[in-house]
Amino acid sequence: MQASISSATLEDVPGLADLAAVTFPLACPPEVTPEDSAAFIAANLSAERFAGYLTDETYRVLVSRTEGRLTGYCLLVLAPPSDPEVVEALESGRAVLPSAELSKFYLDPAMHGSGLAGQLVEAAARAAESAGARSMWLGVNNRNVRAQSFYRKSGFQTFGRRSFQVGTHTFRDLIMVRQFGTGGQ
Ligand SMILES: CC(C)(COP(=O)(O)OP(=O)(O)OC[C@H]1O[C@@H](n2cnc3c(N)ncnc32)[C@H](O)[C@@H]1OP(=O)(O)O)[C@@H](O)C(=O)NCCC(=O)NCCS
Repeated sequence: MQASISSATLEDVPGLADLAAVTFPLACPPEVTPEDSAAFIAANLSAERFAGYLTDETYRVLVSRTEGRLTGYCLLVLAPPSDPEVVEALESGRAVLPSAELSKFYLDPAMHGSGLAGQLVEAAARAAESAGARSMWLGVNNRNVRAQSFYRKSGFQTFGRRSFQVGTHTFRDLIMVRQFGTGGQ
């Protein structure tokens, strides 16, 4: 199946919010309850939040379409990180700065294993580089081994950890970094 990747537009907002609501729980360990997920989605992944991301220069939202249907999205944050644990991880691993955050990266489950994730991460890297970033970092749940494995094969290395709160749970996410132009991909 042929997929196309492009920058999201305001017309994509309702579809993005629907896709985000379906896919966010896939990245969470089982102790995250449906109520925890719903609260996180309402606070971070609502149609209003996506409309805000699309109209703020700090963010880039990319979407993939397969046969006209939204099948994946990612969100880049171009501002420097403020979390001291992330700053420390980037420094200790000698990440080349500025580093863009790959803050969300989600595919429709029907597309897992299809190769689409590879196309989307390359598009995200190109978008981050064109915006001036020299590396790209992300946080991934400690137990999300599929995503970690995908990121490793996409040129990311683990640089540290940070705390990440969902509902009442605090997770120790891995911080992974892909350097641009230094033998990454
Ligand atoms: C993360 C995600 C985008 C990756 O896309 P994908 O199409 O699943 O990735 P791929 O299949 O190309 O790569 C996953 C790799 O993990 C491997 N894998 C799968 N399950 C695994 C497991 N339980 N343990 C270890 N490796 C595993 C796969 O074999 C594959 O490696 P291979 O290509 O060498 O065989 C997608 O799985 C997804 O949307 N997941 C739900 C949301 C999510 O977790 N997002 C990330 C938030 S940080």
